[in-house]
Formats: sequence, structure tokens, C-alpha cells
Amino acid sequence: TAATVAAGMFTATQTVAAEACDPGEVVIKFSHVVSATGHPKGDFATALAERVNTEMNGKACMQVFPSSQLFDDDKVMEALLLGDVQIAAPSLSKFEAYTLKYRVFDLPFLFSDMNAVNNFTQGPTGQELLGAMSDIGFVGLGYVYNGIKHFSANKPLLTPADAAGLKFRVQTSDVAVAMIEAMEANAQKLAFKEVYGALQTGVVDGQENTWSNIYTKKFFEVQDGITETSHQLLSYLAVTSQEWLDSLDPEVRDQFVTIFTEVTNEANARSSAINEANKQKIIESGVEVRTLTPEQREQWVVVMKPVWAKFADDIGQDVIDAAVAANN
Ligand code: LMR
Repeated sequence: TAATVAAGMFTATQTVAAEACDPGEVVIKFSHVVSATGHPKGDFATALAERVNTEMNGKACMQVFPSSQLFDDDKVMEALLLGDVQIAAPSLSKFEAYTLKYRVFDLPFLFSDMNAVNNFTQGPTGQELLGAMSDIGFVGLGYVYNGIKHFSANKPLLTPADAAGLKFRVQTSDVAVAMIEAMEANAQKLAFKEVYGALQTGVVDGQENTWSNIYTKKFFEVQDGITETSHQLLSYLAVTSQEWLDSLDPEVRDQFVTIFTEVTNEANARSSAINEANKQKIIESGVEVRTLTPEQREQWVVVMKPVWAKFADDIGQDVIDAAVAANN
């Protein structure tokens, strides 16, 4: 079966038991790029599969493929349309080939905290954005949160001037490129699975990510320290294809979507705690976590915020205004 073939590709430490599906069950493959455990998205996928496989046994069966074992985030979108996977959850920064509206989520220093993010995603504008790719055949099932991102490099970063001239890995996001260029640094787009090696070999000097990505992919081991810049959101869009959703028996579809929504809400309520736990593990490892004084933080804001204006037309000022209003 597909599960056996895929499981054979895993090394012992990476093995995740891909559920063996019974004949007649709808097979739901969920491919993602992060660690299977101790991570907001990895834990979400595991919890989702557990519930689907228990409560929908005989009707549906979910197999999870973590750590880029099946697809990178750029390939997974094509795979969804081809029916090779049914669920993906790339970062909202990675949808530029399909819609420019999600650039709003990448604007630096936009959301004051995860409550503001939640206000926006659950409000009318956030809900409308779930359908931003319907013309291509993608459906947003919901937002799955990771958290707020921080910078790290192979030297101490306290002000944006410290980052000038360095090369930073970014996701496939032009907002991120503009942000790094505003710091007079250089951006290099790389797939997530390439980041550790690129940091280790000096292909790039630094990166920006959440505590959970920095810890579970060991980026902290090959960096001088992490600076708590809290400059940008990392959230995922759980996405599927309209064609697949429409192909489901209505009762199966309703049950799946209900489970999906419940598991998403539970995962989102846990995401900040998971990031905090990962931050503590980084601190315990002895790697320096640097906090900024209000004056230092203001320097990052002053350098990065002008980036917003470049993307206002793509996003729509009304969407930006709704996101800003979610901070209140
Ligand atoms: C990244 O590429 O840094 C992240 O989008 C990876 C992830 O899925 O958290």
C-alpha cells in the first residue's frame, strides 16, 4: 500500500506510523514540512489524524507525512490539485503564486499578539480570505497558528544596523524580501528543509522563525543567538481542493469538516504554550536569547514598517485596515 511504501522511506528516528487504511475508506493524506511532535502544526496534524481515524473508522482514514518527507511547500499545492494529497498547511507567506491577498499576514509589526491574529482570522475579513483562491480550485479550511517570529544570525543582533550586509534565509515571500532589504541585508528564498544546512555551511548568515521551528529544526545550534524581535506572524492556511471536497459523500464531508474545525480551535489555543516551551528549551541549551529595549525595538519598527506601503495595492487597504483594527 502507499502507507507501506512511504513508511519505508523513513529512517528509524523519523518514522511516523502512517495509518494503514482499510478498503473502502476515503484516504486523506496530509503532507507538511515540520516536526511531527512538539510543534503547533505537527501536533495539530497528529491530533487531527487521531480523531479522524477513531471517529471515522470505516469511512475515512488519515495519513500524515511530516518533515517534508512527501512534498515541499511549493510542490504540495500542485499535489493537491492532482489529488496526490488531500490536506496541506503551508505558511500564509507561501501562497504568492495563487493570491497576493495573504501578503497582509506578512506585514511586519502588524499584529500586537496572537489575540489580535485570532480577532482578524475569525472576523469577517479573515473568513472571506479563506476563499481567496477559489478560482484556482483551492479551499481554505481554516487558519492553524504557529506564532510570532524572531531573528537569529551568526552574530549578535540588537538593532537593524547589526543585520546590515548579512544574508538571511526567507520563505518564498516578496514581503519578506522587502523587509530584509529594508534592513540593508540580503534575502535568499529557500525551502524549509534546506535552512539548517544553509545556516551550518554559511550559505546564509541568519534566518527568522518561531521558537518552535528554531528549536525543533535545531537552527539555534548553528546560530550565535536569537533576538526576540517579534516582528512577524507565522500562521498556516489549512487547504484542500474543492474537487476533492465535492467528491465526498455529504455525511463524510460534514463529519470531517466538523472534526477539522474542532481540532483547529484546540490546536490554536495551545500554540502559544508550545512556542513558549520551545523557547525555554533553547534558553536551557545555553544559546543566548536576546531581548530588546523599547528603544532598540523601535528601531526595527522604523526600518521595517515602510514595507507596508509597497504591498497595499496587492492586499487592499480595506483588508489592511481590518487587520490593524483587530489589535483593539
Ligand atoms: C518556513 O518555511 O520557515 C515555515 O513556513 C515552515 C513551517 O511550515 O513552519
